[in-house]
Amino acid sequence: MSLKLKNVSRTFDGITAVKNFSISAEPGEIIGLLGTSGCGKSTLLRAISGLDNDYDGEISINGNTSKEVDDRTGFIFQEPRLLPWLPVLENVTFGLKGNKETKVQRAKEFLENVGLSGKEQLYPRQLSGGMAQRVAIARALVTSPEILLLDEPFSALDAFTKMQLQDLLLDVWHTYKSTVVLVTHDIDEALYLCDRIVVLRGQPGQIDTEFVIKEERPRQRGGQKLAEYKSEILDRLDLNNTHSYTS
Ligand SMILES: Nc1ncnc2c1ncn2[C@@H]1O[C@H](COP(=O)(O)OP(=O)(O)O)[C@@H](O)[C@H]1O
Ligand SMILES: [Mg+2]
Repeated sequence: MSLKLKNVSRTFDGITAVKNFSISAEPGEIIGLLGTSGCGKSTLLRAISGLDNDYDGEISINGNTSKEVDDRTGFIFQEPRLLPWLPVLENVTFGLKGNKETKVQRAKEFLENVGLSGKEQLYPRQLSGGMAQRVAIARALVTSPEILLLDEPFSALDAFTKMQLQDLLLDVWHTYKSTVVLVTHDIDEALYLCDRIVVLRGQPGQIDTEFVIKEERPRQRGGQKLAEYKSEILDRLDLNNTHSYTS
């Protein structure tokens, strides 16, 4: 599904979080929104998701400008937001349609993919932060959403788990050709996953630069090409200078 934002602005009590933001994503594209904390990334994603419809401007999914939540959309938020009264397995089957046996089988498969086999009957309060986030990731991916909105989905995870789950995301994307919007402050993550990286700066956040990552997949995390892009992005963010001590 295609996604288009035209002049989207969002103001909270007189404070403008996002101003005149426009982007579009082709079906099956992975777009990264990269920027420092507070530049309006989560605000934008909530507007796209339909969970917040108090914005100005226009957001359309496949040409449809409805401000409602579209059930072909999957979200992974910065925090897990699990249903505390349901065990892990039921948190994952919750949004699935179909007969119980199929739902359970599919949920188990995704729980295995995120490394949580054997934890199906635990309750959210019995999970570590990283485990809970992995349940949230399984819950979003299991529905094979046509649009996937991810808000720093892997930031609470250790580096190794993070890399595994980035690959799981790519597997799901490859199978279902989902259109993905990934909010992140992790440059390496954006470079590994995205077709295009939109760098946001300022408060309110505005588009600073857009990088098209012309690198075939599978990409090499430590490869020369991504390193070159990284250096360019660091330049854009004024972070590529050598630190000098002040005392
Ligand atoms: N519900 C809200 N009420 C008031 N201010 C908000 C709300 N949500 C976000 N903001 C403000 O909007 C700005 C952007 O926030 P956010 O979108 O969370 O940034 P990011 O996700 O890039 O860190 C911040 O200044 C934040 O304080
Ligand atoms: Mg945020």
